[in-house]
Amino acid sequence: MADKKDRKDIICSCTGTTKQKILQLIDDGATDIAKISSATGAMTGCASCDVLIIDLLKEHIKS
Ligand code: FES
Repeated sequence: MADKKDRKDIICSCTGTTKQKILQLIDDGATDIAKISSATGAMTGCASCDVLIIDLLKEHIKS
């Protein structure tokens, strides 16, 4: 339950990009911040979401 709510968290408030959307992109092969940005528009506004997106990439990319 907590995990479902967590996945709906907004990571980028400028574009409404959710954690779930970013995790889906990572699952689909996105490996860097530029791919996340081009797919969602995240970081095209104030760019304050960059650290959150970098953290998600670090946590979820399997090397
Ligand atoms: S919060 Fe992502 S660009 Fe502003």
